[in-house]
Amino acid sequence: MRKKIVAANWKMNMTQAESADFVATLLLELGEVSDVEVVLVPPFTALAKVTEALAKSQNVKVGAQNMHWERSGAFTGEISAEMLRDLYVRYVVLGHSERRQLFGETDEIVNRKVRAAHEAALRPIVCVGETLQQRERGSVEKILSLQLRGSLTDLGPKELAETVIAYEPIWAIGTGQTATTAQAQEAHAFIRHTLCEISDEATADRIRIQYGGSVKPDNARALMTQPDIDGALVGGASLDARSFAEIVKGAQDLP
Ligand code: 13P
Repeated sequence: MRKKIVAANWKMNMTQAESADFVATLLLELGEVSDVEVVLVPPFTALAKVTEALAKSQNVKVGAQNMHWERSGAFTGEISAEMLRDLYVRYVVLGHSERRQLFGETDEIVNRKVRAAHEAALRPIVCVGETLQQRERGSVEKILSLQLRGSLTDLGPKELAETVIAYEPIWAIGTGQTATTAQAQEAHAFIRHTLCEISDEATADRIRIQYGGSVKPDNARALMTQPDIDGALVGGASLDARSFAEIVKGAQDLP
């Protein structure tokens, strides 16, 4: 049994005050959700505020959007896994397509970060996904396989089981064009098959695979009902506490 995991990737949005308001509304809307893991992923500047606002909540965790792979040193502008741990961060999104496309992150860089995250007991959410051009060329499986194998090199079964994969087709991010449930399930099944080749069936069965790309309250539940879709990584719709709460509720009581 894989517990569903729904995460809010705020990207470069939200001040401290807005973050505190969001958390207050979210907790009111959600009440006690125990069968879904909820993760808020604010910008670095709001991490402490979100943790503070979540002090009374058991079920909502905090994640960061990126980190550096070194522990400390002369890396101006960077933030390490230890620094995130110091702020009670539990998850870290790595290899988001915006980092790959706009900031030149390669699978090798993502892999260094994934290994450093595990060393610091942070759970990585590793993003993979194809461009529209790659989909039209019929190379979805090739791209996913390369990204997974490259990003997850040298991880043991325990680390893999504690890694979350986010399938985010780039053509669906911020476009309003969600993958159909069938398209998403097909990609997720292929990802699980690849994870099985990378490790073994028991480990692959434990790894949670989120879908991301124009997830909204009205399409989230249908996506998460698919057998290999274990949650959602939400961008735009996660900036509004009520709409994010609806998406979380859509993940409740699902097998
Ligand atoms: P949207 O939900 O805005 O499409 O963003 C998805 C995403 O990139 C989450 O990481």
